[in-house]
Amino acid sequence: MGVISTEERIPLNVHNLDPAMEGGVPPGFISLICGHAGTMKSSVAFNILANAARKQGRRCLHITLEQHRDHLIRHASKLGMFHGEADVDRVMELVSVVDLATMRREMTEGGKSEEMDWPAAIVRAIKNYKEAFGCDVIVLDSLAALYALSNFENPRAQLFHFFEKVREVGATAFFISEMPTDRNVFGLHGVEDFLSDGIVHLKVDYSMGGADLYIGIVKMRETKHPRSYHPLIWVKEQHRFEIVTG
Ligand SMILES: Nc1ncnc2c1ncn2[C@@H]1O[C@H](COP(=O)(O)OP(=O)(O)OP(=O)(O)O)[C@@H](O)[C@H]1O
Ligand SMILES: [Mg+2]
Repeated sequence: MGVISTEERIPLNVHNLDPAMEGGVPPGFISLICGHAGTMKSSVAFNILANAARKQGRRCLHITLEQHRDHLIRHASKLGMFHGEADVDRVMELVSVVDLATMRREMTEGGKSEEMDWPAAIVRAIKNYKEAFGCDVIVLDSLAALYALSNFENPRAQLFHFFEKVREVGATAFFISEMPTDRNVFGLHGVEDFLSDGIVHLKVDYSMGGADLYIGIVKMRETKHPRSYHPLIWVKEQHRFEIVTG
């Protein structure tokens, strides 16, 4: 296997950060986008998809178990992620958003009981989209919501299986992961760290009396990347996230 080229990678679309990490995330990787509540995880993730569609013409799937499809688009519009009305149409033509209600409807149409196997349903949804439209980049928002829906009896084994099944699809995936407040791990079950190929960490620093948002790449396999945390800002006029480099 050769070296992964910059063109093949999926940029995080954070200005100044992508060039410092060989252009982005290698194709086929599963990365966590993790942080505590309100650290812009969903926005960073959606911005990756919007630009993968806009700039690279990639087919994307945003699975949200937390927000309604309309809320997601409204939040993105309000932030200024779109470059006008025509851009909304152009981007959303390539980005399919599947929310919890849609998934539940699709799953129960076949007469299934309310006892749903959510991880299996998500894998099936991804496979269906891939077959129907192609599917290059996926966001799953969020693992925490998936855990709330599913009764994982053996989370380690079941998560291992879930990650493997998603990996088999062959798309580049970003799993949004809520971090526990009491342990120094990047997912609630403590296994997400090593199951994933990459970890993007969003955190708020309260130490200097402010509350600035920082982004750090904790790990990214097959990639030379900085380990330092950089202030992350959304610049509405430029429609982009930027890191502030010192
Ligand atoms: N115009 C804005 N510019 C910068 N930040 C904003 C703006 N509007 C909202 N925010 C911030 O974005 C946050 C919501 O972003 P987002 O939903 O992406 O975060 P999240 O980490 O996914 O949150 P949650 O934990 O609820 O899932 C808000 O809590 C607010 O702090
Ligand atoms: Mg969110």
